[in-house]
Parts: sequence; structure tokens; C-alpha cells
Amino acid sequence: MPRVVVLISGRGSNLSALLEANLPVHFAAVMSNKAGAGGLLAAEQAGIPTEVINHKDFEGREAFDRFLAQRIDHYLDVSGDVSIDARKRGLVVLAGFMRIFSPHFTKHFAGRMMNIHPSLLPAFTGLHTHQRALDEGVKIHGCSVHLVTAELDHGPILAQAAVPVLINDDENTLAARVLRQEHQLYPRVVRAWAEGKLRIDENAVPHWEGPQDPNLSLQNPAP
Ligand code: GRF
Repeated sequence: MPRVVVLISGRGSNLSALLEANLPVHFAAVMSNKAGAGGLLAAEQAGIPTEVINHKDFEGREAFDRFLAQRIDHYLDVSGDVSIDARKRGLVVLAGFMRIFSPHFTKHFAGRMMNIHPSLLPAFTGLHTHQRALDEGVKIHGCSVHLVTAELDHGPILAQAAVPVLINDDENTLAARVLRQEHQLYPRVVRAWAEGKLRIDENAVPHWEGPQDPNLSLQNPAP
């Protein structure tokens, strides 16, 4: 089974959704830059190796990223041979990992690293997406799974889920509606990748294989 490393910084509800989805992958490790991250417990209970690497222990972003990349490579257990099948080289899944990466890191994992972002990208990159969506008065909001590139929240979009913004919504109610969709969407995309339905070529361009089931890449508005 293809190997997956998940990176978290916080509560880890997306991690739990991935762990509960019975995916045809081997979770090689769950790593965090925060010692108290709630998701670490879920990983331990599932018998998955965990590792905390505190970014504050490093002199600068580059040094932290280089060490983190080495540790991920260790868990993914792959050679540097870029010609081998992408799935065999494993996948890095960002699930609420609150760090901006250096270009070296995103290049190293190009085409092998996904993120889930709580907005319909390219709208609302960065933080506080739900409040910003409310402030703009958008009527449809949601979440996106995308490949990670050097530019924050800007890699190719793999799948999206949309939800309506309701009249009485506040940041919390809207965030909860989006999060429910995140928990369905992320496992769906990782499963598609693991089963070879979502192929990512050597140029880090995603391709959905065969007759595409629109439900794989689009979840329609759902209250
Ligand atoms: C989610 O909203 C996700 O979209 C964003 O960070 C949050 C992580 O939540 N990238 P959790 O730790 O998975 O509960």
C-alpha cells in the first residue's frame, strides 16, 4: 500500500476523518510542529508512529524545513529516484499544518504533497477564511484540496466542496458546515490518489483517470 505521512499542528479532526475512512494506504507517521497537538493522540491510539519537531528549536525556516523533509523521507522510505511511480514515492498530507514552507521544501515534495484549505480557492487564501467570506457577503463557500506549491494556497485544485452561506451564519456555524464537508472530501481525494484514479504526473500536474465521477472532485452545496 502507498505510504502517507500526515502533518498537523492542532486538533486533527481532518486527520481523524482520514484515519476512520479505511483508506488503502499505510499511514507511516503523523508529525507535528506542536507538542500538544490534539491529533497526536488520535494517531497514537491508531498505532501510528508520531513525531514532534518544534520549529522553535531551529534557526530559521530553512533549517526546520530541511530537517522535516529528511524525517518525512525516512518515513516514506523512498529513494530519490523521481522516475518511479508517483504513488510508490508516497504522499505528504497537510491537515491543519500551520507553517509556510521554504521553496526548497515545496520543490522536494512537488506533486507529492496535498493540503486542505477552508475556502473555495482561489478565493480567501490565508487565514480567517470564514469571517472573510461573511464580510464579503458570498453566498457559496466551502473547502478545497490542492497540491502544494511554493505560493501559499495556490497549487492546482484537486477537489472542492461547496456549502451555502445562510442568513444567520456567524463564523462558527459556517466553519462547522465547511468542516463537515472537509471530513468527507479529504479522504475521498486521498483514496482516489491511492487507487490510481487521481494520477499526478512527473511535472506535478494532476490527471483524473478514466470516466470521471464528478462526485470525486466536486461536492455540491449541502446545508
Ligand atoms: C481545517 O479547517 C483545514 O481546512 C485547515 O486547518 C483546519 C484544520 O483542522 N487547513 P483540524 O486540525 O483538521 O481539525
